[in-house]
Amino acid sequence: MPEEFPRIKRLPQYVFAVVNDLKAKMRKEGEDIIDFGMGNPDLPPAQHIIEKLCESAKKKTTHRYSMSQGIPRLRKAICDFYRNRYGVELDPDKEAIMTIGSKEGLSHLMLAMLEPGDIAMVPSPRYPIHYYAPVIAGASVLTVPLPFEGSEEEKQELFLKNIYDSYEDSYPEAKVLILNFPNNPTTMTVSLDFFKEVVKFAKKKGLWIIHDLAYGDLCFDGYKAPSILQVEGAKDVAVETYSMTKGFSMAGWRVGFILGNETLVYNLKRLKSYLDYGMFTPIQVASIIALESDYSIVQKAADTYSKRLDILVAGLNAAGWKVGKPRATMFLWAKIPEKFSHMGSIDFSMMLLREAKVAVAPGIGFGEHGEGYVRFAVVENEKRIRQAIRNIKRLAR
Ligand SMILES: Cc1ncc(COP(=O)(O)O)c(C=O)c1O
Repeated sequence: MPEEFPRIKRLPQYVFAVVNDLKAKMRKEGEDIIDFGMGNPDLPPAQHIIEKLCESAKKKTTHRYSMSQGIPRLRKAICDFYRNRYGVELDPDKEAIMTIGSKEGLSHLMLAMLEPGDIAMVPSPRYPIHYYAPVIAGASVLTVPLPFEGSEEEKQELFLKNIYDSYEDSYPEAKVLILNFPNNPTTMTVSLDFFKEVVKFAKKKGLWIIHDLAYGDLCFDGYKAPSILQVEGAKDVAVETYSMTKGFSMAGWRVGFILGNETLVYNLKRLKSYLDYGMFTPIQVASIIALESDYSIVQKAADTYSKRLDILVAGLNAAGWKVGKPRATMFLWAKIPEKFSHMGSIDFSMMLLREAKVAVAPGIGFGEHGEGYVRFAVVENEKRIRQAIRNIKRLAR
């Protein structure tokens, strides 16, 4: 194996790699794997967005370097979207920046903010880059356990307590807290009151908050996820990352935004002005059309995931695997059934793959607190979900 440089040494091989390797091997041998492993949307964007991309790409004038912060009309479009959806006012010049997907934005924001010796508070389980972006920046990470048993209210109360306790334990004092609701992988949701409490605490302690709203558009059954920027004065301490990956089904386009606190946006803008020239202009132009579209195009995607989750949840319960439907995201966070609980989440996932031809993400891949669980991403159609359930039922017998 080639030599690993010190920064790379701090990035372990993806835990998911073992399961992914087996999946690739089985596929090569001709097996049909029903793949709930990665939250990679299978739905296409609305046709008029794709058409706008093509139309803009055909123009001779759209192929030069673009603007790293995002073209002004796109920044205006995301601010209008936030006003319409959340009643939040943002300044498109000072409080909004486009990023190459929210993952890139978060990673470079951490690089702009943090130095060796700084501490970032990150929940566990968590989406891996929430942990590794501070690590790449050379900072230390303090893990805050994210509860996933009990009612949503109980979990919020306990998580707040965990945040307060972890902060008191941190030395030096933590500089930033990373949050993500609706949550990947646990699907936990929060109320605006939760955000009010965290913002109050952050202001008192001089703590920055980065809130990842990647799943804000994928809500079901009447639930609407709040934006942290709806809290009065949140902009004093917080930014929110917004992504067009999930709700708009534009994963490969890499369109994200960071919105809110002027200082954080300014510093990220300065860093990115050295790193990139902005997204391909036609992608930005088509993203404007997407953001200005009727919200029903996003609702349609949410309804599709909701229906798939209904089928998956009903099927697993019928197979004796007790799970409940989440209020948001495209995931099911499922406790490993009693009968198999002696197996770790990796072994259990490997068994599901081998015996039921079903791929899931092992909970441990999201941090030590995720052990004992697996995550299904409903990126397969209804027919294939039903097939997966038949296979799992056979295995359960
Ligand atoms: C919590 C969370 N944030 C961010 C992302 C990535 O978003 P983007 O495609 O905008 O980089 C994901 C993708 O799975 C995610 O689960």
